[in-house]
Amino acid sequence: MNEVHKLLAFSDTESKEFHDGDWYSLWKDDALAAEWEVCDLLYGFIRVLKPSLVFESGTGIGHTTKALILGCVANLKGRVVTCETDRDKVEQAQKFLGEFPNVEILNIPAATSLDLHQADFIFSDSSYESRVEEWDVVKPGALFVVHDICASPAVARFVKEHRGLSLAKGRGVGILLKE
Ligand SMILES: C[S@@+](CC[C@H](N)C(=O)[O-])C[C@H]1O[C@@H](n2cnc3c(N)ncnc32)[C@H](O)[C@@H]1O
Repeated sequence: MNEVHKLLAFSDTESKEFHDGDWYSLWKDDALAAEWEVCDLLYGFIRVLKPSLVFESGTGIGHTTKALILGCVANLKGRVVTCETDRDKVEQAQKFLGEFPNVEILNIPAATSLDLHQADFIFSDSSYESRVEEWDVVKPGALFVVHDICASPAVARFVKEHRGLSLAKGRGVGILLKE
């Protein structure tokens, strides 16, 4: 466990899954949560880009949200708005992330949030269909990171069509810069 993982973790939550010839670390408590390695990547993006407003679609129970929050905390800058349509998950995420003042968890569909239009960095991890809708409204200059290009052919196609960078490892990550 590295230092970021220690910060991110519930105690004893890491498990391993073989995928694509490599090991990826998954969470025992939420099968839908992004790989630990994707949390590392998100944390790194936030540290490098130092965005003022970070937006996440698909909070789940808050694992990737925590990586985004911790990046902002380390930057001494930035707040995170995250949207989740499932009320039970919102409640779990509120418990998990309650200690942080720089996050707002909204129980609404991500594409309806005005913060999405204004965000500098977006992590799109909602339903596969919603992700294209979300891309449509982000502002020029924003970096849009979308999960699951290896899990969804439609998401993979979307990234290619918009000339994004495809990191086809694990569940896969697409990276797009809005022009
Ligand atoms: C893959 S999970 C999110 C996992 C989380 N980002 C993580 O890695 O810990 C996708 C979540 O998106 C939520 N969701 C689906 N459609 C949504 C939408 N339109 N807006 C916001 N959340 C949505 C689902 O309820 C589900 O909890």
